[in-house]
Amino acid sequence: MTDTFYITTPIYYVNDVPHIGHAYTTVAADFVARYHRLRGEKVFFLTGTDEHGQKVARAAEERGVPPQAWTDQIVPRWREVWEALDIANDDFIRTTEDRHVKPVQKLVQQLYDQGDVYLGTYEGLYCVSCEQFYLEDELIDGMCPVHGRPVDRVEEENYFFRLSAYRDRLLAHYEAHPEFVQPEERRNEVVSFVGGRLQDLSISRTSFTWGVPIPWDSRHVMYVWVDALQNYITAAGFGSDEERFATLWPADYHFVGKDIIRFHAVIWPAMLMAADLPLPGTVFAHGWLLVGGEKMSKTKLTGIHPSELLKDFGVDGYRYHFLREVPFGQDGSFSWESMAARYNADLANDFGNLASRVLAMLASYFEGLVPEPPAGVGPEQDLIKLSAEVAARFDERVLAVDLSGALASVWEFVGAVNRYLVDVAPWNLAKEADRLDDLRRCLYASAEALRILAILISPVMPRAARLLWDDLGVAGHLSEQRVPTALEWGGLQPGTRTRRGEALFPRMET
Ligand code: MSP
Repeated sequence: MTDTFYITTPIYYVNDVPHIGHAYTTVAADFVARYHRLRGEKVFFLTGTDEHGQKVARAAEERGVPPQAWTDQIVPRWREVWEALDIANDDFIRTTEDRHVKPVQKLVQQLYDQGDVYLGTYEGLYCVSCEQFYLEDELIDGMCPVHGRPVDRVEEENYFFRLSAYRDRLLAHYEAHPEFVQPEERRNEVVSFVGGRLQDLSISRTSFTWGVPIPWDSRHVMYVWVDALQNYITAAGFGSDEERFATLWPADYHFVGKDIIRFHAVIWPAMLMAADLPLPGTVFAHGWLLVGGEKMSKTKLTGIHPSELLKDFGVDGYRYHFLREVPFGQDGSFSWESMAARYNADLANDFGNLASRVLAMLASYFEGLVPEPPAGVGPEQDLIKLSAEVAARFDERVLAVDLSGALASVWEFVGAVNRYLVDVAPWNLAKEADRLDDLRRCLYASAEALRILAILISPVMPRAARLLWDDLGVAGHLSEQRVPTALEWGGLQPGTRTRRGEALFPRMET
């Protein structure tokens, strides 16, 4: 591994605009990327668009536009969604760019020259929505197992990649690197797939032209997946900027949906082995967002555009919901009702009210200035201890890609601060002149807890974190904070001027 933390999303097919299933992967990767930046690491977070192949070609044809013109007009619709979701990617690769196409051709030519690619004929069942061949017994009632739509019978002269030749090396890699495919269930699936009848892979097509031309045979274009997978190296400079490539590759994480695990955990590492390049650290497959028990998809007309939720929940509410609601790796059902219920409970009540109560008390009892906590110890000791535990657990959970677990630990702290306030009841202390020291101690501790919370939530809810940070008036920018140091208790300076800001998460009427 290099000293840069390199994380990727899949590159998305631009046959249509995004839905919340696509945004799910991207938001999760953004959260992880932001946390690694907070740890002071160099980060390269990549996303982009997958623009070749039949699926995109058909979408263009249906609209009566040439494919390149179509992709040029739809890509901005993807970029604007990532912007609206506060996605802080470091690069955005389009597979129609020169920096991608040229190196891809070079690598495939190399595989051909060294005998890893040969000409053969292929007969099979193809799902255009998946851009994937299926075996007869993989179909469900004769239909694609993912989209439930008819598959095409295809017979073609194709170039093949000798995938089967990499079977033993792949199995040895899974064995030696149990972390390579996660979670465990997906790893088992991959190991048994490769351990079974691993066939060579058809990597070219002659029936359409929207793809990267096979350099030695102009009748063929490359199978879209063979071109697409290479985005992870071309964006890092492979074939265009070798010096940069050496500082970035291999990637630490490929985040993907479980439907595309085989491409990433079987075909991709085999291609890298053939090219004599290092393999990525981990391919992590998350589950699906379901609607009515099925994978949400545009093909099935169940896709919800992120903007439909952003107007109600705001970007922070949106990001929080999907990462907290579903354990990363499992399927989860989406419903507006449960999203609204969680928003009100976790964000408006537990978190938002906590912040506004503390800031309001600072304003009324101390003219907005953070009080000096008196010497000695009090009931805040438990909070101090818990804050350290939560910071450590958060770190450990994010690094283990247990994203909902990481957020659950933050909310454990939120709950503890709320209980502390109820126990100590500063609103009563404020009525008794001889309890001023206890009041100071309590409000210092509560404000300090908010400072720590602002840092902890910043990777998932960057806007609310910044608002809270500014309301607390803490010196220095939130973006300059580094964990674990910034999470140590006592960072808030007495005398800091706070202000009662607007509600972080206005309650939602359901
Ligand atoms: N273009 C390929 C990926 C190439 S990566 C080298 C592709 N594109 S896609 O647009 O169809 O899907 C991209 C990602 O979105 C996949 O990881 C897929 O799992 C994810 N999702 C699409 N629908 C989804 C849900 N309903 N729920 C969660 N994720 C889903 O595949």
